[in-house]
Amino acid sequence: MMTNPQVGATSHSTSTVAPLRFLTGITTTGTPHLGNYVGSIRPSVAASRGTGASSFYFLADYHALIKCNEPDRIQRSTLEIAASWLAAGLDPERVIFYRQSDIPEIPELTWLLTCVTAKGVLNRAHAYKAAVDKNTATGNDPDADVSAGLFMYPVLMGADILMFKANQVPVGRDQVQHIEMARDMAQRFNHLYGEHFVLPQAQVEESVALLPGLDGRKMSKSYDNTIALFTPREQLKKLIASIVTDSRAPGQPKEVEGSALFQIYQAFADEQETAALRKAYSEGIGWADAKQLLFERIDQEIAPMRAHYQALMKDPAKIEAILQAGAGKARQLAAPFMRELRHAVGLRKLTAHDLSPATTAAGEKASKTALPVFKQYREADGKFHFKLIDAQGRLLLQSHGLDSPKDAAQAIGLLQIQGAAALPALQGRLQIAGDVTSAEVNSALQQLMAARH
Ligand code: TRP
Repeated sequence: MMTNPQVGATSHSTSTVAPLRFLTGITTTGTPHLGNYVGSIRPSVAASRGTGASSFYFLADYHALIKCNEPDRIQRSTLEIAASWLAAGLDPERVIFYRQSDIPEIPELTWLLTCVTAKGVLNRAHAYKAAVDKNTATGNDPDADVSAGLFMYPVLMGADILMFKANQVPVGRDQVQHIEMARDMAQRFNHLYGEHFVLPQAQVEESVALLPGLDGRKMSKSYDNTIALFTPREQLKKLIASIVTDSRAPGQPKEVEGSALFQIYQAFADEQETAALRKAYSEGIGWADAKQLLFERIDQEIAPMRAHYQALMKDPAKIEAILQAGAGKARQLAAPFMRELRHAVGLRKLTAHDLSPATTAAGEKASKTALPVFKQYREADGKFHFKLIDAQGRLLLQSHGLDSPKDAAQAIGLLQIQGAAALPALQGRLQIAGDVTSAEVNSALQQLMAARH
């Protein structure tokens, strides 16, 4: 028989001894600029290359619909953002990179969360409140031009996060409130229906530079002061030449404080280079020379990625295929989890197990133990295993040692979605326990599928 499961064997079919999960979404309304690169793309790509984390990156195109009703712009922006992240080094083999609207479970979960979210909480969401305050200030109806989509924005975002059991959500300060709301939704749902959701945490990177734009204010599309990340070399040069400076002549010492040019340089240069420019400032470097330095420094980092970006932009089919593969991986997690959640709230086949009197948390627990269950665990050799046991605790299926918890989760996902039909594809990765017939395994899988629908 098998050795003892070690850590992490729990009754939750999808919980694992998995590493921390990071998840972040990018709204698909604009063209990435240098501020996005320094503040979000570059640190996220670097983090995704570290070991020990599993990361989810997605294109938040449902969110884009809230602020943009130009179809071509949404499509174009989705392409540009996907190409930018890939060109900047995001490796779709190492992370789950997908488009929100390819995951139909997300809007489905949004509804379940909508039903456990207090309207009063949404009234206090910053974006909605700002719109209402503006209307009130101008004497309009408070809700004039406010769509229900804007109002519901935090719930859709909650579904993005909770669907994939993210632990950490790297965001800008303006998004922290949304993560707190997602936590509230998770807590409320768990309280009503049992422990299903992981409580996420916002991760605000204090050290990430806020990049100034051409006019010295924060680089932002709404100020029209941006430098597009992959603007052609000549255009980059022109834009950098238009960064505001003071009127000091060459030879006159210059201040680094408040110099947009210096701050942008700092975001790309290492410490030595930064120190050298600081010295050049005090020695009176001319603005034209400083701009030339900045241009060369940025272009040195961006040029190789720009070439990759241009190649990707010419090949939308390739990006589409990458996103489809990502959606496949994401849905392997989302589809079984959504079935678990539907079951939890009582959206069940009438033939499913629990027509028992109580749909309380206790009743839910009792019905769960009457079903076969997948357990995941890690052995002393560091490999990841799972097994299927029936309601009486008898071993039915036993996996071989797998390299990552993701492999185990994917195999379980397949079995949950396809039942016995998944067995041929998983050959070599698991075996039927010694004294068990394949008919017994089939019927256990069938039972699980029926209960989850
Ligand atoms: N609201 C985020 C933004 O505008 C984008 C987003 C959508 C997001 N869903 C998310 C970010 C989930 C993190 C997690 O920046």
